[in-house]
Amino acid sequence: MNVLITGGAGFIGSHLATRLVSLGHRVIVIDNEATGRREDVPAGAELVRGDVSQIAELEQLFASGLDAVLHVAGQVSLIRSFTDPVVDLRTNVEGTVNVLRLCVAHKVPRLLYASSMTVYGRDGALPTPEDTPCAPISYYGITKYAAERYVHTTAERSDLEFDLHVTSFRMYNVYGPRQALDNPYQGVLGIFLGNLLRDEPITIFGDGRQSRDFIYIDDVVDAWVGALDNAASYGQVINLGSGQQLSINALADHVLGAFGRSRDDWPVRHASARPGEQRQVEAEVARARAVLGWEPRVAFEAGLAETVRWARQTEMTGSRR
Ligand code: UD1
Repeated sequence: MNVLITGGAGFIGSHLATRLVSLGHRVIVIDNEATGRREDVPAGAELVRGDVSQIAELEQLFASGLDAVLHVAGQVSLIRSFTDPVVDLRTNVEGTVNVLRLCVAHKVPRLLYASSMTVYGRDGALPTPEDTPCAPISYYGITKYAAERYVHTTAERSDLEFDLHVTSFRMYNVYGPRQALDNPYQGVLGIFLGNLLRDEPITIFGDGRQSRDFIYIDDVVDAWVGALDNAASYGQVINLGSGQQLSINALADHVLGAFGRSRDDWPVRHASARPGEQRQVEAEVARARAVLGWEPRVAFEAGLAETVRWARQTEMTGSRR
């Protein structure tokens, strides 16, 4: 297949690119390199520098004839969505609308979209099934949800002259190798690993009893790639999490433990809770199981060990500085 991956130099996108290239697909990546890294795009994929919020930068890629688009590009920071709401809106919503307009114009038959568990907002049932009403509590959750609705509403348009099959993955906290270790706006696990590697204190926002559902990158890639030609996933919104909660306090202890440390010999600070935060988070993954025959296969301890191994090596070689 000819596959375009937006955000394909980023953490999740580059892992998707690597897998698809190894399966023999022709992969084109577009990335603005805001957080994505050229070095993470696999040899064998074509990288084009460009921004999804500029439709002109996407146009020529669609002209080459695409079989599928994996739309992963996005502004990912909940904090930045509050401090820089227009960038968040442009990247997440306008960027998705641009991708959709081009999918329609070029009759691309397949689109997979990177949605987020932040669309649910506060106080849903736990674990949270996909039919839970969405009431996002961060600007970021709003833009991810708006974009998701654009995706599905476009696929259902009665005036399309072709079948546009779409699937959205509401991803939980994805972690693993290539996660940023030095970006305070990126995922907490990478931030804590970076803290340990650089001899910095760990900072926990709020009381640390908020929980997240951590899912290993390889499990996420399995689901996306398995869905590509799986007709049962057409039109579906699917949670991708492990189905297990981990508190941020417990996460800090796991990361400290992986370095042979504990709170007794490592500074752990508390700072005020961030706005727009969900409290308890746990995915219901029955739909992913039923539709994709998917299982989260990597236990947290194994995924953490692999990520720590990668992070230590990265720090030693200085390859990500
Ligand atoms: C993350 C992703 C978001 C994705 C969502 C899906 C990032 C930046 N955000 O949001 O794109 O859609 O998962 O689940 O990757 N925390 C600390 N100390 C720190 C950093 C964070 O205590 O130094 C806490 C936060 O307050 C929060 C938790 O850790 O309670 C998780 O934060 P974070 O990794 O930033 O992700 P989410 O907001 O869950």
